[in-house]
Amino acid sequence: MAVALLVAAGRGERLGSGRPKALVLIGGRPMFEWSLRTLQALPSLHRVAVALPPGAEIDAIGDGVVVVQGGATRSHSVREALRAVGAGDPVIVHDAARPFAQLELFERALAELDRGDVDAVVAAVPVADTIKEVADDDRTVTRTLDRGRLWAVQTPQVFRREALERVMAESPEELLAGATDDAWLIERAGGSVAVVRADPSNIKITTEFDLRLAQVLISERQP
Ligand code: CTP
Ligand code: MG
Repeated sequence: MAVALLVAAGRGERLGSGRPKALVLIGGRPMFEWSLRTLQALPSLHRVAVALPPGAEIDAIGDGVVVVQGGATRSHSVREALRAVGAGDPVIVHDAARPFAQLELFERALAELDRGDVDAVVAAVPVADTIKEVADDDRTVTRTLDRGRLWAVQTPQVFRREALERVMAESPEELLAGATDDAWLIERAGGSVAVVRADPSNIKITTEFDLRLAQVLISERQP
C-alpha cells in the first residue's frame, strides 16, 4: 500500500497573505484540504502525513491522517513527514500549493512507477515558452535551450520508499536545504526518474496572481 506526504509547512512569503499559504482559503477551504481530499480518494493509499507550519491549528482531518510539524525547508518537511507516516511503499510526495492535482494524475504516476524500471516518477508538462539562460547581471542572454526536450516539473512525485529514504538520510544538509524537488536528489545520487505527462491546470500557487487564477478555477468546479 502507498503512503503520501503532503507538504504544507511553507510560509508563503511570495504570496504575502499574512498567514501560511496552505491555510489560505480557496473556495471556502484551506488550500491543503483540496489535495488531502484527492489523496484520501486514492484506493491504494494507506496513510497520509501532512506537514504543517509550527502552531497551525486545524480541525480533525480524518482517519489515516497524521499531522507533523514541518521543517525549515521543503525537503526538511518531506523528511519529517516521511518519518511520521509509518509503513508503506511507494511514497507519494505532493505540494499543498498544487490544489488542482487530479486523482487520475496520482493514479497514472503510481502506475508508471509500478512498471518497475525507475526509482521515481514526476508529473511534468512540456514547456510552452522558449527558455533562455541569462547571466548573473539579469540582462545578458548566455544561451537558448532546446525547448523540445524541456519539461516543467510539478507534483505529485512518487518514489520507491527505499530510494527516497536513502537520499533523505544521505544528502548533505546544504543540498537538502537548496532542493526544490526531491526527484533531483534521486538523480544526483545516480537513480533513475521518469516523467508522466500532466496538465497545465495543475498550477502551483505562488503569487497573488496564481491565487486569483485559483479562485476562478474553483468557481468553474463549483457551480
Ligand atoms: N513547504 C514545506 N515546508 C517548508 C517550505 C515549503 O512544507 N519549509 C511546502 C509548501 O507548503 C508548499 C511546497 O512546499 O506546499 C512548495 O513550496 P513553495 O511553493 O515555495 O511554498 P512556500 O515556501 O510556502 O512559499 P514561499 O517560498 O513563497 O515562502
Ligand atoms: Mg518556498
